[in-house]
Amino acid sequence: MTEDRGFCVWFTGLSGAGKSTIAELLVPALRQRGHKVELLDGDVVRTHLSKGLGFSKEDRDTNILRIGFVADLLVRNGVVAICSAISPYREIRDRNRELIGDFVEVYVKASLEEVTRRDVKGLYEKAIAGEISNFTGVSDPYEEPENPELVIDTEQCSPAEAAEMVLARLEELGRLNSNQPANA
Ligand code: ADX
Repeated sequence: MTEDRGFCVWFTGLSGAGKSTIAELLVPALRQRGHKVELLDGDVVRTHLSKGLGFSKEDRDTNILRIGFVADLLVRNGVVAICSAISPYREIRDRNRELIGDFVEVYVKASLEEVTRRDVKGLYEKAIAGEISNFTGVSDPYEEPENPELVIDTEQCSPAEAAEMVLARLEELGRLNSNQPANA
């Protein structure tokens, strides 16, 4: 029964592009519309579910497939699973798309110049200096999605505007609950 299913919003993009910020804004916005929502954020997952994994291709793939596995369980139980991880490899993202089915891929796009300028966690400076190896975008690949449901250029909009863009796209795709809370 499709109406009992949730769906997955999969944010992909470079570190510092804005995935987590947008995802965190999306959670309350969807809850306000009456959806059950869970957030699977790369940084958080890596401290629990994927603790001990590193950044080799094999470990990244394991991490992303684990997130996809949990997202699938949630979606089957009517939950909106919002996933936010670099997820640099197209093939692995597509495997999750195939597994979950109800999959909305959002490419959170920002140039390497911009994320290096932002350097929220100070990691790009270290990666460029060679102190961190296999750093996505610097010394490790990032494969852009070929057919994402949405591309958000975070050099052109605020996080709040980005979250609105996701909501608008979900509406367009017929994913949003129409039953607004009475006091909305
Ligand atoms: S993924 O490749 O497996 O999808 P994930 O999103 O979970 O990555 O974790 C990325 C976060 O780990 C980055 O935002 C950054 O804070 C940190 N990190 C540490 N080392 C690396 C690295 N070599 N490449 C990318 N991110 C790294």
